[in-house]
Amino acid sequence: MNKILVQNKKSWDKVAHHFNGIDALPSYGPFTQTEEELQLFGDLNNKKVLDIGYGSGHSLRYMADKGASELWGVDISESQKAAAEETLKGLHPRLYCSPMEIDCNLPNYYFDYVYSIYAIGWTTDLASTFNLIYSYLKSGGVFIFSWDHPLYPYLQSENGVITLDGSYQEEGFTTFNRFKGENVSMSIPKRKMATYLNELIRAGFSIHSVIESDVPNYYENHEEVISDRYYSLYKARRFPTTMIIKAVKD
Ligand SMILES: C[S@@+](CC[C@H](N)C(=O)[O-])C[C@H]1O[C@@H](n2cnc3c(N)ncnc32)[C@H](O)[C@@H]1O
Repeated sequence: MNKILVQNKKSWDKVAHHFNGIDALPSYGPFTQTEEELQLFGDLNNKKVLDIGYGSGHSLRYMADKGASELWGVDISESQKAAAEETLKGLHPRLYCSPMEIDCNLPNYYFDYVYSIYAIGWTTDLASTFNLIYSYLKSGGVFIFSWDHPLYPYLQSENGVITLDGSYQEEGFTTFNRFKGENVSMSIPKRKMATYLNELIRAGFSIHSVIESDVPNYYENHEEVISDRYYSLYKARRFPTTMIIKAVKD
């Protein structure tokens, strides 16, 4: 494992409890349409699914509820593995504790669906992650992931006026020494929208849909209140919090 992965793994083990049941299907992300609204997955009955960055296991439980026959997952954190085992008790999941960018001997040409909810952007090597995911899928298999809209981290809001802070042109890692209120170091990569799309194409995928999120129907009649919070209904009505991409292995 490279230095960033060693550091992030240690930190995820400490902050995992903040993410129990957060960012899990049917939700694709904060103030974002759900799977019930978007219908990106087809029939999941008897399908073999692999979750990249399964976290507390709630998305895999959603897959089980929809009839998936095999539940597999990869996540870097031991604490998340323990949480997911609890969430998925009795469902016989196959959970691996490993970085998504490293081959951990998952079967090739095996899965109907590989998906990832708010985890893919943590990878330190996008090209090898997408190459591996491509290799795990059957021919005709589908890869769906959601992540922060690549411009979102650059938005600043003051009294409801949204401006751009920093350079979207510069890709690379930012290291934070506090995360979720804990004293841990986390390095998060920033990448442009084109980088995600081009790496998918290079890995061999056909892009089926690209969604820049809008607020879910649930919020339709919610009152408009100015808010400068990182995620808020006010901001989400003006700018997508999340990108969601569906790609296919032909
Ligand atoms: C926001 S959580 C995802 C929540 C999850 N999708 C769910 O359904 O509950 C992000 C997850 O990515 C995992 N992660 C971070 N870097 C990783 C990496 N390089 N390889 C695999 N998993 C990683 C973290 O341990 C964490 O569980």
